[in-house]
Amino acid sequence: MDFDLKEWISRIKSLKDIPRFIAFEGIEGSGKTTQAKLLGSFLKKCGFNVKVVRDPGFTPLGEKIRKILKSEVNIDSVSELFLFLAARRQLVVDVVRPALRKGIVVITDRFTNSTLAYQGRGRGLMPETLPMLCYIATGGVEPELTFVLDIDPEKGLQRAKKRSESEKSKEDRFEAQDIQFHRRIREFYAELAENSENVFIIDSSQDIYSVFADVVSKLYEFSKEKF
Ligand SMILES: Nc1ncnc2c1ncn2[C@@H]1O[C@H](COP(=O)(O)OP(=O)(O)OP(=O)(O)O)[C@@H](O)[C@H]1O
Ligand SMILES: [Mg+2]
Repeated sequence: MDFDLKEWISRIKSLKDIPRFIAFEGIEGSGKTTQAKLLGSFLKKCGFNVKVVRDPGFTPLGEKIRKILKSEVNIDSVSELFLFLAARRQLVVDVVRPALRKGIVVITDRFTNSTLAYQGRGRGLMPETLPMLCYIATGGVEPELTFVLDIDPEKGLQRAKKRSESEKSKEDRFEAQDIQFHRRIREFYAELAENSENVFIIDSSQDIYSVFADVVSKLYEFSKEKF
């Protein structure tokens, strides 16, 4: 790994601007939480005001909903969808919108594309109306730049399992899905990146700092072109 921190800080500082709303997406154990935190502290070093959030979660309501979703209570797939959307709505209203208005950089661990991936492609829920329901939740507040951390589902799930064991937490309702489910999610993200100019695939099978180096260099290239 050859990531020259000082060099990258000065490169990012030389940019006119960077995207203010950035998302990490990817299957279980792909490294979203790890990379969101790393990018958050890196951008703070570059002089930005930064908030790292997670969806579902971060707000008091969102964290309660997250707990319900992680619990073993039976949840119908449409109910599940509305729980995710309610958590996201609260995140947008309480945190994302006010932060963006103040020029704070918001980095989110998952967002709308997770719903399109898991509830849409994974569960096969309402392909026609799903984007509209998502739009009602966010009011169109969507990330300007998205990194998809791409990894083989078997490897990702192994990582997630190792983490759950060390945290003594149980596998959640998605980790417990069969491998085909996770393959569909991965495929969805690959297609999304293919069809979007602000969604990029990052090879997440590399070590943590090589993945991070790819994230920062993509952020740099994208910002240079866009701003
Ligand atoms: N590039 C990497 N190489 C090896 N291990 C990694 C890498 N990135 C993260 N990990 C480890 O794998 C586990 C899962 O990573 P992390 O929690 O960041 O993934 P996640 O995408 O947020 O997972 P989840 O969807 O379950 O929240 C953690 O124990 C983390 O330390
Ligand atoms: Mg995570």
